[in-house]
Amino acid sequence: MLDKVKSFISEVENATANTEEEIESFRLKFVGRNNVVNELFEQFKQVPSEQKRELGPALNKLKNLAQTKLKELSESVGFSSTSSAEVDVTLPGAFGSEGSIHPISQTRSRIIEIFERQGFNVEDGPEIDNDWNNFTALNFPENHPAREMQDTYFIEKNPDMLLRTHTSNVQIRLMNKKKPPIRAIMPGRVFRNEAISARAHCFFHQVEGLVVGENISFKDLKNTLYHFSKEMFGKQTKIRLRPSYFPFTEPSAEIDISCFICGGSGCKICKQTGWVEIAGSGMVDPNVLENCGIDSTKYSGFAFGMGIERVTMLKYQLDDLRLFSENDVRFLKQF
Ligand code: DAH
Repeated sequence: MLDKVKSFISEVENATANTEEEIESFRLKFVGRNNVVNELFEQFKQVPSEQKRELGPALNKLKNLAQTKLKELSESVGFSSTSSAEVDVTLPGAFGSEGSIHPISQTRSRIIEIFERQGFNVEDGPEIDNDWNNFTALNFPENHPAREMQDTYFIEKNPDMLLRTHTSNVQIRLMNKKKPPIRAIMPGRVFRNEAISARAHCFFHQVEGLVVGENISFKDLKNTLYHFSKEMFGKQTKIRLRPSYFPFTEPSAEIDISCFICGGSGCKICKQTGWVEIAGSGMVDPNVLENCGIDSTKYSGFAFGMGIERVTMLKYQLDDLRLFSENDVRFLKQF
C-alpha cells in the first residue's frame, strides 16, 4: 500500500494540465468526492498499526499535495476552480452596494407623473439658446432692468447666444412649432452667474408649465397648481397666490403652499409665516403669444415655473443646495 501511495505522490507531483478538462479529470481523481486518496484512507483503517506510522504521514502528504497541485494547475490555465469541498454554496453571496436615483431626478419624475395625469405632455429644449428665445420673445425689452434679475452667462464668441437662465425659453420654442391647444411641462437645467452658496448655485433645475387655448383663465392656473400641490405635498395642503411681476406674464403671481411641516402654525422651514413659495406663474402676456404667431384675441394661456431643487429641499427639509452637486454618496444613499 505504501508503494501505491508513493506512486500517486509522484503522479501528483508530475501532473500537468493544459485544458479545463484535464484539470477536471485530475480533480475527480485526487480531490473529488470519490477520490483515490479517500479510498486509501478507508483502507488505512484496516492496516496493522506498525505500518500506520509510515503510511499515515505519506497519505496526508498525498492529500495536501493533491489540493495544492489542483490550485496550481487551475491558476496556470487561468481558471480558478476550487474543490467542491471548499465552497459552501449555502452561504449568502457577496453583494455590491446598490446605487440610488438622485433626489433631483426623483422629484423631476414625480412632478412629471403628476402633470402627465392632468393631461400635460413633456417637452424639451436646449440649454444653450439665443437671446430671442430666452429674453426678447418673453417680453424682456432690450436694456430692461428685468434682464438683470437673472445674471446671464453669455457665449464669448457669439454674445447673441447664452446659457438659458430659465426653462421659459422652451415656451417660445414650443409655441413656434405647435399651435394651440398646448398643454405641456418642460423640465430642464438652467444657469445663472451666481456665487455658489447654500442658497444659490450657478446651475439648477426648473420645470416650466404652459397651457394655451381658447378661454383659458386664471381659474385654470389656480386649479392646476392646487391639484399639483395636494398630490406633491399631501391632501391637507392649501395654496395662496401673491401678486408678483414677470415680464412674460400679466397678471403674475407667486404660488405659496401652506407649510407641510408645521401645518401653517409657523416653523423654521416657513420662517414662522406658515407658507412656503414653490413657483412663479401668471397669465401669458399677449405680447408673448403674438411674438410666437399666436392670435392673442382668440387664445389665452397660463404659465408657471418651479424650482426642482426648491421642491426637493422642502420635501426632505434640506438646507444646502450644494449637496445636490457634490456627489457625496453618504448624502445620495439616503434617497
Ligand atoms: N422664469 C421664471 C424664473 O426663472 C419662473 C417663471 C415665473 C416661469 C412665471 C413662468 C412664469 O412660466 O409664468 O424665475
